[in-house]
Amino acid sequence: MKTILITHPFKKKNIRKASRILKAGGLVAVPTETVYGLAANALNPKAVKKIFKVKGRPQDNPVIVHIASRKKIKELVAEIPAAAAVLMKKYWPGPLTIVFKKSAAIPEVTSAGLPTVAVRMPKNKIILSLIRESGFPLAAPSANVSGRPSPTTIEDVLEDLAEKIDCAIDGGSTYYGIESTVVDVSGKVPTLLRPGSISIEQLRSTIGKVKIAQNNSERPKSPGMKYKHYAPKAKLIIIEGKKENIAKKIQSILSKKKNEKTGVITTQHSNSYRYGLIQFVGSDNNRIARNLFKALRAMDRLGVELILAEGIPEKGTGHAIMNRLRKAAGYKVIKV
Ligand code: TXA
Ligand code: MG
Repeated sequence: MKTILITHPFKKKNIRKASRILKAGGLVAVPTETVYGLAANALNPKAVKKIFKVKGRPQDNPVIVHIASRKKIKELVAEIPAAAAVLMKKYWPGPLTIVFKKSAAIPEVTSAGLPTVAVRMPKNKIILSLIRESGFPLAAPSANVSGRPSPTTIEDVLEDLAEKIDCAIDGGSTYYGIESTVVDVSGKVPTLLRPGSISIEQLRSTIGKVKIAQNNSERPKSPGMKYKHYAPKAKLIIIEGKKENIAKKIQSILSKKKNEKTGVITTQHSNSYRYGLIQFVGSDNNRIARNLFKALRAMDRLGVELILAEGIPEKGTGHAIMNRLRKAAGYKVIKV
């Protein structure tokens, strides 16, 4: 299949072209403010099935439904708990996904057989205009092959999905760089299922008590959290501990591996690492999040075989960054 590449996303006729593809049950990769999504009509089970096939996504992992106006939510969910109403008002449009009890409008395949549905209103003009033009909500998981780092540029999308999808829209680099925060309000106490750029501290200061789901259990509440995720082809090890100890440990590993294809993901500008391929991802959390998946994919393109990544404190977005890094590393961590 030839993938139609749209390079002028603000031209109305291009959005119309992409929405015609969606109306016909096709798949369109589209930028959001977090990462690129692989979109289909959320209410068309045949179209949503294609997403699972193309991504190689496990059948029991539901997809997020994207809307362009708060009013649309009523058709998709059984009820809107008070906490959800507060969250929607404060954080939509934006990188927050809310899990509700679903309505009958949601096909089984979209919610992967669960009684709930995840909904979010993104803050990106391109996907918002595509939803409006289409007239239906868009199911969209990240536009990567399952298990790979999420895509933050059109090049990343095409690396994984070229010739496998009908259309891809170039919207430049995505703003946040990591996927949305997922919070479940379908039970008694709101529960954080996936950390993201809206932090647990922010959620708690907005709605009070929020539990953190234990995703290491046999049956995680957010099915996506149990699979191998975000993984580069290279072996990835995280070094966690005090800043000085981390730098020392990484340098000592690098010194031993001089002739090997080793890379470092660092947050320290004026670092003194010798040897290895050094990827500086920034020193503040927003920048680190924006560059994290990019750095992992870059290491693969450069043929790196071992990646050493510095751990960072789990405050604010640091929580989400460490969540993604640890998964990408398959929990290979050296504590120093
Ligand atoms: O930022 C994002 O959320 C991006 C952009 C494209 O919107 N999308 C994204 O989708 O990251 P995906 O499919 O890669 O991750 C969705 C996560 C998975 O962990 C999935 O298990 C969880 O949300 N999820 C979806 N529906 C759920 C539900 N009904 N109950 C619990 N977890 C759900
Ligand atoms: Mg994903």
